Amino acid sequence: MVNALDILSYLPRFLRERITPKMPIPDVKNDPSKVQLARLGHVYFEHPDLNKFARFAKDFGFVEEKRDGNAIYFRGYGRDPYIYVATKSKTGKPKFMGPAFVARDQKEFDKAAKLPGATVKSLDRAPGGGQMVTIARPNGTFMHVVYGQQERDVEENKGEPTATHDSQGPFNTPFEKRRLGQFQRYHEGPALIHKLGHFGYVCKEFDEELDFYTSNFNLVHSDILWHPQFSNIDVLTFMHLDLGQEWSDHHIMFLQRAPPEVKETYVHHSSYEVADFDTQLLGHEWLAKNKWKSVWGVGRHILGSQIFDYWQDSSGFKIEHYADGDVVNQDSPTRREVAGPISVWGPELPKDFGADGTKLLVPS
Ligand SMILES: [Fe+2]
Repeated sequence: MVNALDILSYLPRFLRERITPKMPIPDVKNDPSKVQLARLGHVYFEHPDLNKFARFAKDFGFVEEKRDGNAIYFRGYGRDPYIYVATKSKTGKPKFMGPAFVARDQKEFDKAAKLPGATVKSLDRAPGGGQMVTIARPNGTFMHVVYGQQERDVEENKGEPTATHDSQGPFNTPFEKRRLGQFQRYHEGPALIHKLGHFGYVCKEFDEELDFYTSNFNLVHSDILWHPQFSNIDVLTFMHLDLGQEWSDHHIMFLQRAPPEVKETYVHHSSYEVADFDTQLLGHEWLAKNKWKSVWGVGRHILGSQIFDYWQDSSGFKIEHYADGDVVNQDSPTRREVAGPISVWGPELPKDFGADGTKLLVPS
């Protein structure tokens, strides 16, 4: 579909940038008046066929923690009691029902509960309990903040839980052999998930939503990208949680300014951390063997550096395995650059990668 920007892009740069309105992404700074979030905890998705999604989830590497009526709670092997809540769709259509961030402490949770439009509910029936604030946004999306969950015991010194690795020592490099007389041994299986890493929207109400997230919470920019043909139009931000000196994932959330032809905001993908490159490739083969649809991967991103692998779930949502992502802290400056290639290696980017996969899915 041709839009006005496509036509204007044929004009010389000085002219096209003068006649299009400026659409900047403003700089933001965290301050103590904002709600301080500690991490991303879980996401909510509605699926038309819950059992089919449960089959996908198992092959993707989630562990089913609890079934409760029309909801299934899936966990990883990190500290969160669950990282993905799938419910049966009441409308018969797939729908993203929002991310749930974990508040830093009770005081920050109480601040979130006082934001305009916030409602508070108990999570008594969910694994780990706790409480949740929900803010319904005017564009039909939801933002949740949780606190008081009983976290899982994670024994990090026992090594990564795995469904594929029999024995794995350090990598031997040409100049340095650190694995001596030991063997790398693996078998087929799913890529076990550690945690929920990030999610992002292609957003029709871009400026309002960006203002909501950055003025109320400690979300700050890692990388801001401008349109390749219009340097006066910022089109995407990768945001991290400002945790001060503490290191935090390069992006926990991204917002992309929806191109003019997009009618409605949608979640682009959600992403889950796995242990390493071998896990990625073994997980890829496992999903392929079980006849799920690969979207894009395995490859290496540029911004955030993750090794990525995108799949289509049973409802058409794009869902990503990632490993080896960057971390940043308060001393990491916001970078601004032109939107360009998003991988340094990997298969060719599919033409419909930006699209809403739930609209593309042909029911099987
Ligand atoms: Fe991602």
